[in-house]
Amino acid sequence: MKFIIISGTPGTGKTTISNNLLKYINAKVISLNELVIERNFVLEYDQERETSIIDEKKLIKNLDKMIKNYVKTSIDYLIIEGHFSDIIPEKYMDLIIILRCHPDELFVRLKKRGYMNKKILENIQSEILGSCANYFISKERELPLYEIDTTNSKIKEISKKILDIINGNVDINDYLIGEIDWLEEISNQDRLNEFFK
Ligand SMILES: Nc1ncnc2c1ncn2[C@@H]1O[C@H](COP(=O)(O)OP(=O)(O)OP(=O)(O)O)[C@@H](O)[C@H]1O
Ligand SMILES: [Mg+2]
Repeated sequence: MKFIIISGTPGTGKTTISNNLLKYINAKVISLNELVIERNFVLEYDQERETSIIDEKKLIKNLDKMIKNYVKTSIDYLIIEGHFSDIIPEKYMDLIIILRCHPDELFVRLKKRGYMNKKILENIQSEILGSCANYFISKERELPLYEIDTTNSKIKEISKKILDIINGNVDINDYLIGEIDWLEEISNQDRLNEFFK
């Protein structure tokens, strides 16, 4: 069994894509967000930042148990999706896909969800800086880490790209970290002030 980690800023489509992938491969999905809510791993709610503080210890222990149970089954892939993927042990990282989304489209997606502007801006800032990749890059071992732009792509097309990466059917250079650079783009457009005040 291989482990696929799907990470990315909230709103980039991790849950949507992970579930769509189930149509094409013999896999199961562990959604870290759902796990936290289902098992009640929320310690407290930060009203100001509209964010839940989670009990990481409990989550890690539970995740490990779940993974060990899945390993005993006959599935080919276990997809673990969530934006706080830094809690996933490195031994469970066979492939890491980070979903990216242009700041303007991310704004639309997060606004639709009813997030307040402060929270939207925080998320957009971390997307512009490509923060999700930092944790994986900081690891000693070089991990198979790729980024996919979801901005103008249909769910099916994004799944197809992931399947192509899994099967080695693509020029992997197109998906390396650094290819997607919102910071350069908005800076060239003189729009930095819009996002970083
Ligand atoms: N490729 C896409 N094109 C357009 N809309 C999309 C795409 N992928 C996802 N969406 C929409 O964007 C919203 C966010 O998607 P989703 O909930 O899958 O994101 P997420 O990364 O799992 O977020 P979170 O980290 O908060 O769980 C949903 O309304 C979804 O329908
Ligand atoms: Mg989600």
